[in-house]
Amino acid sequence: MSTSRLGRTGGRDSASSVAPVSSGYEPALRPCLALLHRAQPARGSFCASLLDPKRCNYNRGVEFETRAIHEGQEPDPATGSVVVPIYQTSTFVQEAVGEHKGYDYSRAGNPTRTALELCLASLEGAEHGHAFSSGLGAVTTTMHLVSPGERVVCVNDVYGGVYRMFTQIYEPKGYEFEFLSAAEMSENLAEHLDDRTRVVWLETPTNPLLNLVDIRAAAGAAHAAGAMVVVDNTFATPYLQRPLELGADLVIHSTTKYLGGHSDLIGGFAATNDPTVAERLTFLQKSLGAVPGPFDCWLVLRGLKTLAIRMRKHCENAAAVASFLDGHPKIEQVLFPGLESHPGHETAKLQMADFGGMVSFLAESEEEAVAVCARTRIWRLAESLGGVESLIEHPARMTHASTADAPFATPRNLVRLSVGIESADDLVADLEAALVRAAAAAGA
Ligand SMILES: Cc1ncc(COP(=O)(O)O)c(C=O)c1O
Repeated sequence: MSTSRLGRTGGRDSASSVAPVSSGYEPALRPCLALLHRAQPARGSFCASLLDPKRCNYNRGVEFETRAIHEGQEPDPATGSVVVPIYQTSTFVQEAVGEHKGYDYSRAGNPTRTALELCLASLEGAEHGHAFSSGLGAVTTTMHLVSPGERVVCVNDVYGGVYRMFTQIYEPKGYEFEFLSAAEMSENLAEHLDDRTRVVWLETPTNPLLNLVDIRAAAGAAHAAGAMVVVDNTFATPYLQRPLELGADLVIHSTTKYLGGHSDLIGGFAATNDPTVAERLTFLQKSLGAVPGPFDCWLVLRGLKTLAIRMRKHCENAAAVASFLDGHPKIEQVLFPGLESHPGHETAKLQMADFGGMVSFLAESEEEAVAVCARTRIWRLAESLGGVESLIEHPARMTHASTADAPFATPRNLVRLSVGIESADDLVADLEAALVRAAAAAGA
């Protein structure tokens, strides 16, 4: 295992070797929900794992689906409420100055947020989790691990908002970025790293072209150069892919998407096994203040309970939609890692449990792409993704408009589909009808 300049990196074995956090940027870890449970004896392994606030290590004895419903979510000690309450409070009473039950102010910590942090960290196979106000809140907080003059090597097919942040906010401040294709990332990353490279930033599958980056290969190259690897796991979710197990140091999420799962919140998350990075993120989370409110944390927690079952249906429907589109006369190319023709198919099979719920395709022209987006009835024309309802969008004019002037600008004839969990037959029929209507409108 290699060492990043921030300290020991994570990786497959790191969880078991995590030491209790000592002094550092902050005196102690954020308190666990367990502090509220002191009045009650521990019952069962979940509770036992929560009792020591400095060791929030999760229960590895049970499966993903069980942890999604129980981890960090003991019945409320005050009332027995089975569901974690929404602790909708900004502050907490102190018995004497500095004497409290583990929480003093909700920007620094809130019990509903702690429950989410414990649960989602465990799903990512991480010892430490931090919730943020949005995916970009998680990104901007993570970028505070980097200093001006240092380099970030980033996959070029990255969410447009991340690209905009890197090039329009951080680059003018003296941070350096190099954008590489997913193929270059997987194959020749080492050639692009030097001793000023602090972070290798991956999305896989990428947004919106659904390219794959080999996380294990990228982590090997990054660690050899002393850089840390950050993976935006929003598209795959921990149900399909766990980057920390593949050697990444930090995983981030827009919980707005599959994790929340119902298009009713904005949120972000970061998870790591590196105690030094975790401590720094705790400090940054409190100091920068990009924190989610308790209700949004509660909504994500509720979404996590059905993540596994939803992801299975998203994947099944996406495969059905991709196979309908593949070979359709009005479609130039379908981009879906589940297709054997997809360049990332083998990598996807290696590092993902299934191929995900996103499908992109190239229409014959920009006009047809725009026309089909406007002509579906079940698929809603909207930004975002990962909700139970199917969405369609035109990235070049919507989510990725900020890449328009980049050499790797999103193709103008690209359509992106977030395949929901409705009936696959209805989704295919609606797309089929929209393609006919679009072709008629374009005068084909
Ligand atoms: C892959 C990816 N990462 C990050 C973000 C940003 O998340 P948020 O909109 O929650 O700030 C998005 C948003 O679409 C995304 O698709």
